[in-house]
Amino acid sequence: MESKQLSRAEALGFSGCRHACHVMLYSDTKSRLFGRTPMEHIVLMQMRFDGLLGFPGGLVNPSKETLEAGLIRELLEEIGTEIPVTAEDHVESCFAPGSSPSSPSSSSLIIHFYVKKIEEEQIREVEKAAASTAADHGLEVMGMVRVPLYTLLRGSGLPFFLSHSFIGNARSQLIRSLLRLGLVAPDRLHQALAHALE
Ligand code: APR
Ligand code: MG
Ligand code: MG
Repeated sequence: MESKQLSRAEALGFSGCRHACHVMLYSDTKSRLFGRTPMEHIVLMQMRFDGLLGFPGGLVNPSKETLEAGLIRELLEEIGTEIPVTAEDHVESCFAPGSSPSSPSSSSLIIHFYVKKIEEEQIREVEKAAASTAADHGLEVMGMVRVPLYTLLRGSGLPFFLSHSFIGNARSQLIRSLLRLGLVAPDRLHQALAHALE
């Protein structure tokens, strides 16, 4: 079940809990798959060390740094690129699955999620740096992945992608963002979700 959404300020009120920040980086693109299917957008996720898909970012310490400074630090480690994420890019915060808002403790985890649009050229730079200079490459992060946003025959593309395993609520964070930003049409997304569950 999904945790209740908290505002950034409400979430920061839980000072005894652990906090983590992650970001969805995306861009527009004119490129076409196999020269045919328009891609329209590029959305970045990562293959984590534990074999799960997730977003770049990680644990931050709000008593020592702002959420965004912690996120920028994590991004530097994981994708080898400084991305100026700000509080304006914050989208949602909630208790991680398994952490209870009714009995917050030092083991509870609050997840903050950000979305940032960048240029396609920067997406390429991130992918390059993540696979070369990023300190966590091959350690916490096995590699960046682009989310296939199209659906081809028999579930190829987004339906198969959504069938993988994701960390925490990263799959819902992705779906909600695709809908909110209009990166995939609602009917196509619902079809992909139905196909992914079959
Ligand atoms: N929803 C819910 N929880 C999430 C999400 C998400 N979308 N993404 C990550 N998490 C959880 C992870 O399970 C982890 O416990 O948030 C926590 C912090 O996120 P990470 O990105 O894994 O943290 P990071 O600081 O980058 O890396 C620390 O390195 O030494 C290992 O095992 C250690 O998981 C730890 C990791
Ligand atoms: Mg990290
Ligand atoms: Mg991380």
